[in-house]
Amino acid sequence: MNRETFPPAAAARRGPRTPAAHDGRRVGSYDDPGSHPADESTDMSTTDMSTTDMSTDDNSLTLVVTAHPDPDSLTHHVARRLVSELRPRAVEVADLHREQFDPRFTTADRRAYHEGRDYPSDVAREHGRLERATDLVLVFPVYWWSMPALLKGWIDRVFVNGWAFEYSAASGLRPKLQGLTTHLLLIAGADSGAYERHGYEGALRTQIEHGIVDYVGSRRGATAFIHESEQSPSTATAASVARAVRAVSEAVRAASPPA
Ligand SMILES: Cc1cc2nc3c(=O)[nH]c(=O)nc-3n(C[C@H](O)[C@H](O)[C@H](O)COP(=O)(O)O)c2cc1C
Repeated sequence: MNRETFPPAAAARRGPRTPAAHDGRRVGSYDDPGSHPADESTDMSTTDMSTTDMSTDDNSLTLVVTAHPDPDSLTHHVARRLVSELRPRAVEVADLHREQFDPRFTTADRRAYHEGRDYPSDVAREHGRLERATDLVLVFPVYWWSMPALLKGWIDRVFVNGWAFEYSAASGLRPKLQGLTTHLLLIAGADSGAYERHGYEGALRTQIEHGIVDYVGSRRGATAFIHESEQSPSTATAASVARAVRAVSEAVRAASPPA
């Protein structure tokens, strides 16, 4: 099988995952994560999970941002697992697809970008979310060796001049998001060898960790990949999901230890 392609040959034969392929198991929500074939032996269906849970006494808040149309996808499953793992810390979920965030950069965005103020109301709302957050986790499927257009549009419109950074010819670049630690959880169709051989992992890291996270002055948290995401769920998938979720949740705890 040529693992450098996506979808891999096996997944192409199998066709896209559908809710029916989940043997009637219920699709989870952020209030109740349900189960996913990738869980294998871990039945998450009884796990209680709230979108926001403020039961610790520290001031940390993790904002988990996802961009995927299918609540039954591996991406949403991984995001739900992460939220569950982070409990009882405070977590807020920004499900950009469900919330119908508009990724299109408008003339109002452009004006705000140039003036560094008067952001459109939907952008200001995201600023509010990020200002409350100590940690940001982007959970997304890799599309064309990058992030989905919906998430890229969120970055374009929200990480904007005047709010995320300031730039002037006289004083140069002044990053403004030093209070935030940013983590990445990437769900990839191809295998790790393809990412290594072609430099895709390095390109993604340069583009997102350096080009975005460093640029706005955010601290770098964990970056974790789940590869071969379109293979039939297996012990390897379950282990990969568990490993990636653990890496990010441990980094969140390390970044914002309890007061
Ligand atoms: C438009 C599109 C582009 C994709 N591009 C890539 C890619 O560049 N590299 C890769 O590893 N996987 C790629 N894939 C595979 C997705 O990463 C894979 O379908 C996803 O991780 C599966 O998880 P999901 O069930 O959450 O969708 C692509 C998939 C789509 C739909």
